[in-house]
Amino acid sequence: MTNVAILGYGVVGSGVSEVIRRNRENIRIKAGDEISVKYILDIRDFPDSPDRDLIVFDPDVIFNDPEVSIVVETIGGTGAAYEFTMRALKSRKHVVTSNKELVAAYGPELLQTARENGVNYLFEASVGGGIPIIRPLNQCLAANEISSITGILNGTTNYILTQMKKKGEDYTNALREAQKNGYAEANPAADIDGFDACRKIAILSSIAYNEFVDYRGIYTEGIKNITIEDMVYADEMGAVIKLVALSRRENDRIFARVSPVVLPKSSPLANVEDEFNAIVVKGDAVGDAMFYGRGAGKLPTASAVVADIIDIVRHPGDIGRNNWVRNGNNNLVDIDDTETRMFVRMKAKDPSRAKEMAQNAFGGVEFVRTGKINDENEIAFTTENMKEGRFKRILSDVRNSEAISDITSVLRIFEEK
Ligand code: HSE
Repeated sequence: MTNVAILGYGVVGSGVSEVIRRNRENIRIKAGDEISVKYILDIRDFPDSPDRDLIVFDPDVIFNDPEVSIVVETIGGTGAAYEFTMRALKSRKHVVTSNKELVAAYGPELLQTARENGVNYLFEASVGGGIPIIRPLNQCLAANEISSITGILNGTTNYILTQMKKKGEDYTNALREAQKNGYAEANPAADIDGFDACRKIAILSSIAYNEFVDYRGIYTEGIKNITIEDMVYADEMGAVIKLVALSRRENDRIFARVSPVVLPKSSPLANVEDEFNAIVVKGDAVGDAMFYGRGAGKLPTASAVVADIIDIVRHPGDIGRNNWVRNGNNNLVDIDDTETRMFVRMKAKDPSRAKEMAQNAFGGVEFVRTGKINDENEIAFTTENMKEGRFKRILSDVRNSEAISDITSVLRIFEEK
């Protein structure tokens, strides 16, 4: 029998216990041993829960019990979660987590501590919820040089953007719905502002490129400013708007970015809707491989946590798949040095002068018109491919032009590389 302790009885923690209970026999066969939850640590008690008798308030009960060999950390954040993970690893207990914040911030230290103590620190559930992606990168695709990863990595924002597009739903209602369904972070700003996706692309990139990518250096923009009107223009261009996280190898450096993009409908990511996530990995031998599934929610995330537990029971000595070393942010390309086409919307005082000015300023612009937006003073266009730094300089000159009253939207156009 393998005894597991769960730290944190929230959405994911309770899901882990439910999956282990529900699929006990199948899990026993796959793991080659019975897996049982012995303790659940929380500061609350849960008198109506089927797990009520497993709840403990004192972490020492878990760390001092030699029968507990695997600890599941589903507390979240980097406070108590860090302290307890370190204690568990130093007590030679394997740790499994869904906590991307902790992995992205302290992955190098935690992985090293795990190695020093002869145990595993696994985090399949930290990216893409129930989608297998960490293990495929570490194992199934290990023979490849990975050149890029592109993904929709946040279920909450994808759900919101889908509701806005399909139902014209307002942003606040869609967010409330995502929270009700258990997709959103405790503080949904991490979803909305792109930081959750940022941590996830940092984790995937660190695995794919064999060097630690610090999320703090990744350019990150969220979806707060996206409007239904932007979506109408995107539709006119044969595109949708998605929050896309991407990273690419560029010579000996890495380019990584999280931002909303105008994504052509022909992209395989364009049809990924609601809370679903998808990740396209480009490898030199495999070509494109796409991973798709539920990226958030109680049972999908628990499914990935329990898979890690099973892996450890099967291969307890399989230590050290990831060896991340901190190197500052020097390995990241500056966003201003990257090239992209932009979509720009402006309110013009004088539309024909504004168009002429846009053409002179940006060069190679293509104007976009849609019959659904009935504002004669609005102009919208796409620019040619240009360095972001140059684009910003031009935009700031244009902003001061007398022909313009306001710049309403600036969005990157996604192009396959
Ligand atoms: N808040 C996250 C999301 C949960 O919406 O994708 C899964 O990491």
